[in-house]
Amino acid sequence: MKTYYITTPIYYLNADPHIGHTYTTVAADVMARYKKERGFDVKFLTGADEHGQKVERAAADAGVHPQAFVDNLVSIYKEVWKTMDCDYDYFSRTTDPAHQETVKKIFKKLYDQGDIYKGSYEGLYCTPDETFFNERDVIDGKCPDCGRPVERVTEESYFFRMSKYQGALEKLYEDHPDFLVPVARRNEMMNNFIKPGLEDLCVSRTSFTWGVPVDFDPGHVIYVWIDALPNYITSLGFLSDKDSDYKRYWPADLHLMSKEIVRFHAVIWPCILMALGEPVPKQVFSHGWLQYDGKKMSKSLGNAISPKALVDEYGVDAIRYFLLREFTFGPDGNFTPTALINRYNADLANDLGNLLSRTVGMVDKYFGGTLPLLEAENSEFDNALGEMAKAMLGKVEDRMDALAFSEALNHTWDLVRRANKYIDESQPWVLAKDESKKAELANVLYHLAETLRIVSIAIKPTMPNTPAIICEQLNITDPALTTWESAKTFGLLHRSLTVTKGAPAFPRIEKDK
Ligand code: MSP
Repeated sequence: MKTYYITTPIYYLNADPHIGHTYTTVAADVMARYKKERGFDVKFLTGADEHGQKVERAAADAGVHPQAFVDNLVSIYKEVWKTMDCDYDYFSRTTDPAHQETVKKIFKKLYDQGDIYKGSYEGLYCTPDETFFNERDVIDGKCPDCGRPVERVTEESYFFRMSKYQGALEKLYEDHPDFLVPVARRNEMMNNFIKPGLEDLCVSRTSFTWGVPVDFDPGHVIYVWIDALPNYITSLGFLSDKDSDYKRYWPADLHLMSKEIVRFHAVIWPCILMALGEPVPKQVFSHGWLQYDGKKMSKSLGNAISPKALVDEYGVDAIRYFLLREFTFGPDGNFTPTALINRYNADLANDLGNLLSRTVGMVDKYFGGTLPLLEAENSEFDNALGEMAKAMLGKVEDRMDALAFSEALNHTWDLVRRANKYIDESQPWVLAKDESKKAELANVLYHLAETLRIVSIAIKPTMPNTPAIICEQLNITDPALTTWESAKTFGLLHRSLTVTKGAPAFPRIEKDK
């Protein structure tokens, strides 16, 4: 069986993760579910990045031990992933003893082979982001990413000899143009970081203690990226005696993240792996930021929206659908309540919700809930709908494989809209008035039900709960009718299907809410 290993970044722990944080994880979850549907042996990793000065300070402010502090936040994060129906296989934690042991081994190995050396560091440091910046990147003494003041720091540090991997990294980018996508990010990394020359990287700190210690030099803790990035392989058992997952799933098929941490994943991480003599990930994909009023959504800017509040109001499938359908995956996207309500009402309440309730309602009204077994010739409308339904999933696959979630969903909604139009073209209410048109009428309703079956399969990865609602109303219980591949055949539903009327799947939202 082909394997597929997908990761999100491990999250810095904020007390209240916002909907922007969930963007990467929802997308990764959709991709993982999609690959499972396609028959892959999938592993999906997310987790928590728990070390560093910021956590140490926040725990001290809260008067608790940093471990207790992060344990509490990890449970908050896990709750959010449950709320968003994100079904990961590994929850990686940098405070996990096994992770720490492997990080120490990695550090020592790189030191022993001369890829890590001791020096002294002077630089501008953004504590909240745990990132050093060059003079040229800092804007008026402020962090170019978050706008908060940077501090000048001088200290004895260990360095990772990244400059040594200049040639190998350039070759990676040249030989594998798809290593980093979209292409704009690739160009940015090439022009801003790789071509100007890779600089050696500071990989230890002495100014705080909450981190993985350098065991051969007490006083130094391993600085964030050599601790955080290897989580993708420590979780698979790398350098441990339980490394079967590492052997099976590494290299990762996809590292997913938003744009501000691309450099770490697409420049530093491959250099670390090359130094370790291990394969690099097959692809790094960077999406944009979810913004609110044109600014990155973040707690410090006060424009953060709670995932739980949204899910309580609209339902988890609607929110997942909105995140992936509304914004093109790649550039930034502007979140507005109006866009959410419009999208919900148009695509979910009107298009999909109505298609289901009209179909079920008409089977109920015209045939008492069960379609009769009558022979009818297909009309040109029936054939057109059937052909479109059969072809839809191939188009979805093409777009999903390119991480073009919005276009993939749009292919499915093209069919949903087409089916609604088909109702208007076929005019079942006219057929129902004519006793001799009973077979034709049943055939129309059958085409609608079968289209809904196919739609329910295509939306499964994005909307994991809605297919069950559709299947319940259409009484689809045979697992053979819900497999991914089955959506490429039109006509699998039993002709004399029985429906069960249910509540509207997506009740309309009044705008003034
Ligand atoms: N801890 C690092 C990653 C280490 S990976 C070895 C980190 N954590 S984070 O919590 O700040 O970010 C986690 C993910 O959430 C990243 O993909 C980040 O870009 C994403 N987002 C956080 N806010 C976001 C938006 N407003 N919009 C989209 N994604 C955003 O970075």
